[in-house]
Amino acid sequence: MASANHATGRPVNVLFVCLGNICRSPMAEGVFTDMAAKHPLINEIDSAGTGAYHVMEPPDPRTMSTLRRHGITDYDHAARKVTKEDFLHFDYLMAMDKYNLRDLQDTRQSLLKKAGGARTKIAEVRLFGDFGAGGVLHECVGGGEVVKDPYYGGANGFEEVYQQVTRFSRGFLDYLEKGNGSKE
Ligand code: 4NP
Repeated sequence: MASANHATGRPVNVLFVCLGNICRSPMAEGVFTDMAAKHPLINEIDSAGTGAYHVMEPPDPRTMSTLRRHGITDYDHAARKVTKEDFLHFDYLMAMDKYNLRDLQDTRQSLLKKAGGARTKIAEVRLFGDFGAGGVLHECVGGGEVVKDPYYGGANGFEEVYQQVTRFSRGFLDYLEKGNGSKE
């Protein structure tokens, strides 16, 4: 089964995924876009939620103010739910926590089952926090750091999310730059 291949130098499409698509995954999308939009190994960047609670809504104001405080002023997004097509279009689906990860893994498995062995390019599903400093990928999928839902907490939860996704964005770019992604 094929998956993302940076050994060929082909730029990858990356989708950040959380539950509501208004707090964590938009933060990750905003940070990663700011860091990597013109990077030769990155093509499309987007975010989505496993739930449909906030579809078409803008990001939480606390996500936007945290991004602005860090100099990211041009980010905009309308929440949407993850689709099956996302698994075919994106190379990486980056889950924020283990619930998102499990949901995405379940959908991925059912799509693979439906494909019935046909050669299909399908997204690699990862916990974003599997990508650590220096481009080191956690050997066990989902074994890395979880980005906790800040929705019901205070403002410093959003700052913590910002700091985490900034570290993981750098780690993921380092990982791609080292060319040590999955081989086709
Ligand atoms: P997110 O946070 O998954 O980081 O966007 C949430 C936002 C809203 C809800 C859950 C999580 N909600 O249930 O409304």
